[in-house]
Amino acid sequence: MSMNGELVLENHKKYNLQSWSKQAEINPIAMEKADGIYMWDYEGNRYTDMSSQLVNLNVGHGNKVIVDAIKEQADKFCFMSPGYAVESRGTLAKMIVELMPDNFKDGKVFFTNGGADANENAIKIARMYTGRKKIMSRYRSYHGSTFGAGNATGEPRRFPLEPGVPGFVHFFDPYVYREAIRFESEEEATKFYLAKLEEQIIYEGTDQIAAILMETITGSNGVIIPPKGYLPGVRKLCDKYGIVMICDEVMAGWGRTGKMFAFENFDVKPDLVSFAKGVTCGYVQLGGVAVSGKIAHYFDHNTLMCGLTYSGHPLACAAGVACVNYYKDAEILKNVEKVGTVLGEYLEDLKSSHPCVGDVRYIGLFSSIELVKDKETREALVPFGQDPEGIMSKIIGMLKARRFMTYSHENMIIIAPPLIITEDQLREEMDKVDEVLTEVDKLYL
Ligand SMILES: Cc1ncc(COP(=O)(O)O)c(C=O)c1O
Repeated sequence: MSMNGELVLENHKKYNLQSWSKQAEINPIAMEKADGIYMWDYEGNRYTDMSSQLVNLNVGHGNKVIVDAIKEQADKFCFMSPGYAVESRGTLAKMIVELMPDNFKDGKVFFTNGGADANENAIKIARMYTGRKKIMSRYRSYHGSTFGAGNATGEPRRFPLEPGVPGFVHFFDPYVYREAIRFESEEEATKFYLAKLEEQIIYEGTDQIAAILMETITGSNGVIIPPKGYLPGVRKLCDKYGIVMICDEVMAGWGRTGKMFAFENFDVKPDLVSFAKGVTCGYVQLGGVAVSGKIAHYFDHNTLMCGLTYSGHPLACAAGVACVNYYKDAEILKNVEKVGTVLGEYLEDLKSSHPCVGDVRYIGLFSSIELVKDKETREALVPFGQDPEGIMSKIIGMLKARRFMTYSHENMIIIAPPLIITEDQLREEMDKVDEVLTEVDKLYL
């Protein structure tokens, strides 16, 4: 069956409920095909994917290696329940454990369908292992929109779930740019945030807290990179008080930052790692929790009270095996390092040349541009949680008019292209950002 763009759009608007949107206001583009970093609508217009969809399509569209692996698995069988041993399931788990730090020797993987249930199950595992109930996570975070992950989430997407599950406690992020105090150094900032976190752990009851759950680098809330020493400091607090350290690598993992996992940038070893997105790049949906050896052993003789019909779906795992091999075979990390350096330089130029750019944050091909009304006061272009005039969607619209596709969050533009992007492609696209920011300077300051 072939459908023209108008019908595709009509069906979408009439029958689909689109995430996080006022349904009467949506105006999506009907896409007909996609290849690499590009997508084409039904009129043949080409768009560039500068957010890797939802920061998951790391290897771009149309990766033949992954598609062939899915076909090969589909020809054998599509589904076998979690209680059977399946080649793709076991192989992928082994590959993931081998990518983890040495405390994952004898570690294991519990597979899920995506990121939210990866965090749900990480939370459950930490609670079972410690016998404690409380989960601490940060305000500027997104961990998924199911009940547990949604309660761990700190930003406004948690509000529909509140009043929520008891025992979820939020703490402040090391968001140095937006802090009321101007620190002399990263180390000074780290000292401040760790002291505050320890104080809060004590107030919450040192023997009550099962886990601290953090995005290793906060993603959709603006690519907030922790200051030097912060994550090792949290690790120390976890060790001191017997708390499980969970790194949510759903967005930051799988090469996005130039390392396979973001925690590798910070010399830290988590106990549990939740992942999704880039493990299959969405070719088939998959997520999971990598569990350290020590915690995995606990479940040798204690029942793992976790389960999903589709845990370790054979098709998804086959896509995962091909995808994870592809990262290595295509030397994706090298490309991230090379093109990421160009992206960083470009962003710094934008910051110095545009009054509306307050801050730029970047690591690998993971970046955000924080827009302000005033560089000195750092007043955000739109206040937190509010944008009554729709300024940010207008800015995203200006980029869209140039066929540069991404999204915004609060006063930030997220730029996280597929990790296969070339330097020339990146430069061509970033020139469009420069043009749009020139308009923003004129229109909104
Ligand atoms: C850091 C992080 N954790 C968890 C999730 C939730 O993943 P999913 O949408 O696959 O449930 C996301 C989604 O964007 C995320 O960015």
